[in-house]
Amino acid sequence: MKTNQQILSLFENYLAQIQYPEEPQQLYSPIIYSMSGGGKRLRPVLLLLCADAFGGDVAEAMPAAAAVEIFHNFTLLHDDIMDNAMVRRSKPSVYAKWGGNVAILSGDAMMIDSFSRLSALPQDKLPRIMEVFTSMALQVCEGQQYDMDFEQAEKVSVVEYMRMIELKTSALLAGSAMIGAILGGASVEDCNKIYRYALELGLAFQLQDDLLDSYGDEQLGKAIGGDILEGKKTCLMLSAMSRADECDRELLRTLPFDKELSAEQKIARVKAIYDKYDVPHLVNQQITLRFDKALSVLDTLSLESERVENLRVFARNLMSRKK
Ligand code: IPE
Ligand code: IPE
Ligand code: MG
Ligand code: MG
Ligand code: MG
Repeated sequence: MKTNQQILSLFENYLAQIQYPEEPQQLYSPIIYSMSGGGKRLRPVLLLLCADAFGGDVAEAMPAAAAVEIFHNFTLLHDDIMDNAMVRRSKPSVYAKWGGNVAILSGDAMMIDSFSRLSALPQDKLPRIMEVFTSMALQVCEGQQYDMDFEQAEKVSVVEYMRMIELKTSALLAGSAMIGAILGGASVEDCNKIYRYALELGLAFQLQDDLLDSYGDEQLGKAIGGDILEGKKTCLMLSAMSRADECDRELLRTLPFDKELSAEQKIARVKAIYDKYDVPHLVNQQITLRFDKALSVLDTLSLESERVENLRVFARNLMSRKK
């Protein structure tokens, strides 16, 4: 078995040898920019770790790992248009650098590229993997639509929010993990458990993402407070809404759209309300709960404990992330 660090560097080497055409430059440059832009590579590493844990061949799983990472980067190109986000990984987003039309088309090309890489996988496993891949891809779209719908919605319940982040974020992590497990030759039962583990991890990850969007520092590589300015119904906003008195609730509803205030003022005032109601602490509790759930699923796998250790390490590393 390999360490998580070894898996990551094997994957980086594999990605580095992927070549894109030079022309049309406006189509392929943004793809190269995005793919070499310093992502954490969580989804491909998770996929490869799962393949490795079940005794699969890591090299054979590389096309699938590349596919999920390219797909993920495609979602970011489109997400930054939808969220009006100018900074990604501490650099201008593709949207900010090349504009919306380029981000749409380069994103489309990445999505096509991601699917086409799957054909290099072992043919006997391909139908199942295609099913997982297409289903998770569609779920991301569904989640992204709910995310935008919720911006306009008067009221969003915690259940609706959790379902939305399960779709927009967890589905991709869970699908990646399951594809890895399938490639590793895991039983159907273990594949489903691996899916559950990564699904819980994905929920924790998106709750953290929401928290870091308001409370992170420059390491995050995104503009702090973006969710507040966009009127996102994040877990912070929902938690504050449910605890605040009527006066603060009204402020939470109106501050993000107040034309008299600068962006900095809006962010500071909304965060002051979050702090008043102890929202960061509450969200942190939810995050811990989800991480614990993810870890407890691992104990039920049919594997020897040492084969599961890398998946524990993966989860623990995520827990302390700052970016
Ligand atoms: C960002 O994902 C999008 C979310 C699902 C929150 P990552 O934080 O994994 O992005 P990179 O690839 O490491 O930049
Ligand atoms: C991420 O949601 C979901 C997808 C990209 C599919 P966010 O919009 O919160 O991600 P960031 O914060 O921009 O990375
Ligand atoms: Mg978004
Ligand atoms: Mg976004
Ligand atoms: Mg976010």
